[in-house]
Amino acid sequence: MNSHLEPDRELRDDLTQQVVAYLASWYDGASNSEAWGVDLDPDTLRELRRPPTEEGRDLESILSDLTVAGKDGIYHLSGGHMSYIPNAGLYTAALAEFLAAALNRYTGVAGAVPGFTAIEHGVIDWMTSLFDLGSEASGVLLSGGSMANLTGIVTARFSQLGDGFSAGVMYATPHTHHSVAKAARIAGFRDDQIVSMDTDADLRMDIGKLQERIASDRNAGRNPFLIIASAGTTDTGTVDPLDQLADVAAESDIWFHVDAAYGGFFQLTTRGKDVLHGIERADTIALDPHKGLSIPFGAGALLARHETQLLAAHHGRGGYLTDDDTYMGLRDIASLGPELSRPFRGLPVWLPLQLHGVAPFREALDSSLDLAEHAYNRLGTIEGIDARWAPDLSVVAFMFDDDEVGRSAWEAVNTDRTVHISPTIIEDRFVLRFAILNRRSTVEHVDYAIDIIEKTLVG
Ligand SMILES: Cc1ncc(COP(=O)(O)O)c(C=O)c1O
Repeated sequence: MNSHLEPDRELRDDLTQQVVAYLASWYDGASNSEAWGVDLDPDTLRELRRPPTEEGRDLESILSDLTVAGKDGIYHLSGGHMSYIPNAGLYTAALAEFLAAALNRYTGVAGAVPGFTAIEHGVIDWMTSLFDLGSEASGVLLSGGSMANLTGIVTARFSQLGDGFSAGVMYATPHTHHSVAKAARIAGFRDDQIVSMDTDADLRMDIGKLQERIASDRNAGRNPFLIIASAGTTDTGTVDPLDQLADVAAESDIWFHVDAAYGGFFQLTTRGKDVLHGIERADTIALDPHKGLSIPFGAGALLARHETQLLAAHHGRGGYLTDDDTYMGLRDIASLGPELSRPFRGLPVWLPLQLHGVAPFREALDSSLDLAEHAYNRLGTIEGIDARWAPDLSVVAFMFDDDEVGRSAWEAVNTDRTVHISPTIIEDRFVLRFAILNRRSTVEHVDYAIDIIEKTLVG
């Protein structure tokens, strides 16, 4: 046995303690730390890429490399992080990831570890019941929203079109996350098979135009098969008219996929559930526990109304596996998605939910909604700002009378480093946004950034 690769109990404890102590330096005061760091120089980046030596080195020097490596970029632990779609992370979920990796059991097939498989199916059951998807529903935990959208599109393609899908057409909007177009390409569709539908003034998919387009595509011999709605766009947090889109999908016999990667977990709140009304009629839903639940990156989910449809698109068997893909009533997770070997993704979602209960997650999401309302109300009073989109959820997007002033305001906020925000472009206009989903963000953080924006406008 190679003793280097097999630390004894004492050494294991020592290494673990070093890691725990190291993390304290990141966690203590994280809420009010700067939101992003200073760029590393090219020499340091080169140094960090150096290969391992034959002999290795001590953990202390490796951790000090990690400190250097983590100095630049966005600090996700900071309450000032409100750019892109933030994820504050969750220490208890990180402990669960450690447990999952340390136990290293195999969750691809149920028979390899039925108890762990049951835990992971329990997480999916909790999610499908959150969306009232019914008793036939199922799902799979994946690495994130991009994989969830891909898995949803492949399932829709297989169920609606079978093997011949060259005439298939799917409908999205210019504000649909780019992972959808990427997924469609990976799934074998040409760019012209994705129709980017017009949106109304509130940036929601236009129902009337969608109905017209479906009819004209059918007349032209094309095969409309999939509507992709957003339950919270990345740009503005806008929720498409889900219930009406579900009507169109039902009357036209079209698959209804909802990308709820950002907005889905607002379903836990009363206000969110109201806004997301109609999502319960989806055929598939893409969700990101690594957004709405703050689970560390690498936690996405695809939910499906009918497990049989997920299975039809993804099952696969080899002689080295048993013929049956269930064990004691538990479906092999590998039969529900693209991966065979996979991490035990259920644990970092299951452990924090079991430990803390659901209530603190709901409260955190409710606080994000409150904070977004505060930001929107204050921005609406500022001359030179056009806060035309009331937030559906917790992204507050706004324009400036002059785009160049907007760019200066953005630069001023980020240069200060207390808060980090990121813009987008909508119809060729510069749009700044507060993406509020970080439970460490406070009114003070939001007001601090708005004060800077206001000063830029005045001066
Ligand atoms: C609406 C939406 N869909 C999909 C994705 C892609 O998710 P991921 O980055 O987890 O792959 C994102 C990411 O921000 C998103 O906001």
